[in-house]
Amino acid sequence: MFKKKDLLGLRNLSEDEIMSILETAKSMKAKIDNPLLRTQELKNTSIVTLFYENSTRTKMSFMLAGDYLGAIVKDLGVSTSSVNKGENLIDTGVNLDQMGPNIMIIRHSMTGAAHILAKNVKASVINAGDGTNEHPTQALLDLFTILDYKGHFDGLNVTILGDIAHSRVARSNVFALTKLGAKVTLAGPSTLISNSMKSLGVDVTSNIQKAIENSDVVMGLRIQFERQKNMPFPNLREYSNLFGINSKVLKYAKKDVLVMHPGPVNRGVELSTDIVDGKNSVINIQVKNGVAVRMAILKLLSENRQ
Ligand code: CP
Repeated sequence: MFKKKDLLGLRNLSEDEIMSILETAKSMKAKIDNPLLRTQELKNTSIVTLFYENSTRTKMSFMLAGDYLGAIVKDLGVSTSSVNKGENLIDTGVNLDQMGPNIMIIRHSMTGAAHILAKNVKASVINAGDGTNEHPTQALLDLFTILDYKGHFDGLNVTILGDIAHSRVARSNVFALTKLGAKVTLAGPSTLISNSMKSLGVDVTSNIQKAIENSDVVMGLRIQFERQKNMPFPNLREYSNLFGINSKVLKYAKKDVLVMHPGPVNRGVELSTDIVDGKNSVINIQVKNGVAVRMAILKLLSENRQ
């Protein structure tokens, strides 16, 4: 069972802890489409979101997940807060903690920001993405989606393709998928991937055809220009010609391959539009599953505090 105070990453979670979150998420999914199934089980839980970086999916799905379980959910609105007057992360967290929230959800550009917050507040902290380190709830919703379609992880060929170097999504997925028995291949231009990732138990390649061959899952990643000073390749057209996922390269994958992407997608760059909207794409389903997984995490953390 998942019994921790905080959810900061998947690196230090056991297979059992990960599976218990996914199991809880299963029972949450029906609440998304059927308001009659929504409950008040978190009516005594208050949640504050602190997003120092932009978000559509993660922030909104956490806020709705809290609403669907009857919690009080408030967003700090970092851009209009006293962060703009120079207040640091710890002082911001300590001040918010005095107001009695039970759970704080933070996204920050700095690796380790969620860990720092967790050390300084009584509230349970959820990492909604810290720099290039981890994005555990994204990986959990990815796992939930894979499990839903494939029924298991053992021996699955999962290819993650794109800007690996800056991707907290890739790291969280690697930590979890390797633990659960999947065979992970990381692929992308050599400027956006490091051979040192091999130490995490994955294959690393810049040969896209080889990476996609026989894949059960192909996950595309956005180029995170906001995290780099120099253009990592000559231009976007060249990138998409060499490393974009399109029908020409996807034919090397298994017929029932799942095409995934954490979003936001830059259509025509990392994925061609026909693939984003194609029959193998589960990108929109990932978003829906994100609400279920986040409901599960809020419920489990809330129970762990009792
Ligand atoms: N996948 C993801 O984290 O999306 P947002 O940046 O929109 O939250």
